[in-house]
Amino acid sequence: MTITATPSPTATGAGLRSAGLEHRISRDPARFRVLTGDRPTGPLHLGHYFGTLRNRVRLQDLGVEVFVLIADYQVLTDRDTAERLQEHTDGLLLDHLALGVDPARSTVFTHSAVPALNQLLLPFLSLVSVAELGRNPTVKDEIAHSRQSAVSGLMYTYPVHQAADILFCKGNVVPVGQDQLPHLELTRTIARRFNERYGDVFPEPEALLSAAPLLLGTDGTKMSKSRANSIPLGATADETARLIRGATTDADRHITYDPETRPGVSSLVLLAALCLERDPHEVAAEIGGGGAAALKRTVTDAVNSHLAPVRARRAEYAADLTYVRSVLRAGNERAAAVADRTLEEVREAMGTFR
Ligand code: TRP
Repeated sequence: MTITATPSPTATGAGLRSAGLEHRISRDPARFRVLTGDRPTGPLHLGHYFGTLRNRVRLQDLGVEVFVLIADYQVLTDRDTAERLQEHTDGLLLDHLALGVDPARSTVFTHSAVPALNQLLLPFLSLVSVAELGRNPTVKDEIAHSRQSAVSGLMYTYPVHQAADILFCKGNVVPVGQDQLPHLELTRTIARRFNERYGDVFPEPEALLSAAPLLLGTDGTKMSKSRANSIPLGATADETARLIRGATTDADRHITYDPETRPGVSSLVLLAALCLERDPHEVAAEIGGGGAAALKRTVTDAVNSHLAPVRARRAEYAADLTYVRSVLRAGNERAAAVADRTLEEVREAMGTFR
C-alpha cells in the first residue's frame, strides 16, 4: 500500500451525509457508538451547549452508546503547560452530569488514564505522511493563531492522536463542528489504511455535523473557552446578567435579526430565540424600538430561565465532588478495558509485536 492524499469532504457533502446518518441512527441506535470530547482548557459555555452538549444527551437518550473524552493530553497542543487541569476537568464532569449524561449508560474518561489508547498513536503515526500532517487546514489555522514561539510536534500529530481517541473504542459516529472535519477525514484514512495493510479491525467513523448556528461571544467574535467572551454554563444568574450587559451591540435602537450586517445584535437575538425555542425574527420584532437595553433584558431572562434547572443540578453535583470524581474513575476503568482489548487486536493483526 502506498500513502496517498485524501481530498477533504466539502461542507455540503458532509452535511448531506449527516442527514442520512441521523435517519439510520434513529432506526437502529444500538448499531452506533459515539465518541466525542473537549479539551479541558476552560469552562464550557452556551456555544458548546447549543452546538454539541445537548446533542450528546439526545443521542444517549436515543439508545446510542456514548463515550465522552476529556482530552487532557490535547491541551498541550498550543500551550507549554496544562494550567488548572483538575479544575477544568471537574467543570467538564459537572456540566455533563448536570445536562443529563448518565454514567450508567455513557462513559466519561480522560486521555491520561487510558494507556492503551495512547499506545495506538505509534502504529497510527506510521500510516500517515509528514506532508499530510502539514496540510491539515485546522492545524494550519491553529498555528497561525498560536501564541507560542515554536510549534510543537504535538501540534502536527494531535489529529493522529485524535484518530486513536475515536478508534480505540471503535466509535463509528463523531458529532463535530466544521473545524473538526479534517481530523475526522484523517481518522477515516487511518482506519482504512490499517485495515488494508493488516486486516479489518476498525470502522470508518462518520461525522455527524451539528446544525447549530454559530453563537458569537460578548465581544462580537466567535464564542471561545480561551477568550474572555463567553457565557459559561456554570455561571450564576447575576454573572450571566453582567456578561450580557457588557455585550457588543450597535447604534441602531431598532432591534432586528440580520446576522450579516448586525452580527452583535443578531447573535443576542439568536441566543434568546434558542432559549425560548422561538423564531429569531419574531423575537427581534417584539423588542422593536426597545433598544439594546430591552434586548439584553430579554436575553438575560431567557438564558437564566432556560438554564435554571441545569444550573441547580450542577450546584448539587458541585457539592459532592467525591461522587463526581468517582464517575470519572469508573469511566476511566471502562475505557481502559476497551482500549486494552483493541490494542490486543491491533497487535494480533500486525503480527509482529507481542
Ligand atoms: N479537538 C477537539 C476540540 O478541540 C477535542 C477532541 C479531542 C475530540 N479528541 C476528540 C473531538 C475526538 C471529537 C473526537 O474540540
